[in-house]
Amino acid sequence: MRNFDQFSITDAVRERVAGATDPRIRQISDALVRHLHDFIREVRPTQAEWEQGIAFLTATGHMCSGTRQEFILLSDTLGVSMLVDAINHDHQGKVTESTVLGPFYVEGPPEAPCGTDISGDLAGQPMFASGTVTTPDGTPLANAIVDVWHSDEDGYYDVQHTGEEAGLVARARFRTDAQGRFHFWSIKPAAYPIPHDGPVGKMLEAQGRHPWRPAHVHFMIEAPGFEKLVTHVFVGGDPYLDSDAVFGVKDSLIREFEVSGPGTAPDGRVLDRDWCALHYDFQLNPLSEAASKAA
Ligand code: BEZ
Ligand code: FE
Repeated sequence: MRNFDQFSITDAVRERVAGATDPRIRQISDALVRHLHDFIREVRPTQAEWEQGIAFLTATGHMCSGTRQEFILLSDTLGVSMLVDAINHDHQGKVTESTVLGPFYVEGPPEAPCGTDISGDLAGQPMFASGTVTTPDGTPLANAIVDVWHSDEDGYYDVQHTGEEAGLVARARFRTDAQGRFHFWSIKPAAYPIPHDGPVGKMLEAQGRHPWRPAHVHFMIEAPGFEKLVTHVFVGGDPYLDSDAVFGVKDSLIREFEVSGPGTAPDGRVLDRDWCALHYDFQLNPLSEAASKAA
């Protein structure tokens, strides 16, 4: 086969990849070639634009390191991460909705007993966070692992600090009690821009977009026999709820972080200044249902 034109080349490449022995690789390769060629035929890049595209992907690769994953940021900002999430977590309101993991999760976070203040030396408005973890019908899940992490009042995660300020803070792992409950203290998180000092930042600028995410607290919750839940609780009223740079906001994940004046909090702590409360009841998806959906 030779002498391909701008249309016949697509079927030629499809025939070539049809030899893949793994049926899934065959399917993905075929779709990739069809969509990629259609994209190119629609956009009709000049040779210089094609080189610019290659340079962009090369720079994206060079930006990646052990602590920076520019390709995931690219996926996030193009809505691909949330599209994959939507395809794989279509529970139609029966369980808590999921959203992006983001780059700031740390494997094996420090375990803390419920009630711990995880804010360390951070300044900010005290936040009393509490919630439950249950099955969809409300049966409490005891001993579920609840990982939490969030930004400080300036919008930075602990892992973004270097030098003297470095150290794990505003993140921890809790376990639910016999009634499926957990609670802890921290400070109210702030909105923040995703890392935008690399190619993805340049792309956002060229697209006339801002890099901001609305303030949120991340939760990752695991219990045996249930699908792992990766989600956030967003701060109600945040100005970026409708323009999240990574398209992660869902109405069901927004809560008012109600502010109280000085006084006694639900766990008996006495505060001499304003504090806020976040409460969320999480419902996990039984694995049998997830497994049968995947089949
Ligand atoms: C985050 O929420 O931590 C996050 C998610 C996606 C991209 C960047 C940050
Ligand atoms: Fe975040």
